[in-house]
Amino acid sequence: MAESRKNKVIIVGCGPGLKAYLSPKSMYHIKKAEILVGSRRLLKLFPRVDAEKVVLEKNYSILIQKIAEWSRSKQVVVLVSGDPCFFSYTKMIVRKMGRERCTIIPGISSIQLAFAAVGESWDDACFLSLHGRNNEYEQLVKKVRAYSKVAILTDHKNTPSVIARYLLKHGIQKRQMFICKNLSLPEEAIHATDLISAINMSTSGSAVVIIKNTNNETR
Ligand SMILES: C[S@@+](CC[C@H](N)C(=O)[O-])C[C@H]1O[C@@H](n2cnc3c(N)ncnc32)[C@H](O)[C@@H]1O
Repeated sequence: MAESRKNKVIIVGCGPGLKAYLSPKSMYHIKKAEILVGSRRLLKLFPRVDAEKVVLEKNYSILIQKIAEWSRSKQVVVLVSGDPCFFSYTKMIVRKMGRERCTIIPGISSIQLAFAAVGESWDDACFLSLHGRNNEYEQLVKKVRAYSKVAILTDHKNTPSVIARYLLKHGIQKRQMFICKNLSLPEEAIHATDLISAINMSTSGSAVVIIKNTNNETR
């Protein structure tokens, strides 16, 4: 292993799912990996990479300890969906290993793709993740009241329908809701709707929701 890479882990942003969104720099590091760590879905993107593949499940803390050990003698590359610096376990790796032992290669976030899909800027947006988090609903209401655009990462429990119902229950009505499902994948679907209609919409797979205040309503 080259001296400069010794002791370092490379965390690579893999984008929203379609391989064409991976940067050449990301591909370069993935091809050079001796150990490739990632979710089953991300590892499947690289069948021809000749590295030892380690599946990341819910075993974060044990695996991060192992990554720290392996990286002392081998080139470890960790695959992360979207951008590593946006709601991912990158921060746990950096905390464990220290900044100087981590190289982060950015990726295209699902959030960027969602805003591009609906033709909106994201420089004036606020962000929230409900992916695996059920204690953020108060924040959701505060942010939707305060910002003209709020982008939300969802999961199979905190679905667009659950989000719409919660906002309506808290007196927020006049908002546009964009539901951006399975971005970049063959089953991609984008819906522009309102909160009442969103209650009855079902979602499967990954989704980003954008709530937009079209009239600058205060409720
Ligand atoms: C753990 S977060 C990771 C976010 C990632 N770091 C990023 O920058 O997109 C996972 C969530 O991202 C969103 N997501 C990831 N890929 C997506 C896709 N292809 N389409 C829609 N949403 C996606 C979903 O809300 C999913 O539950």
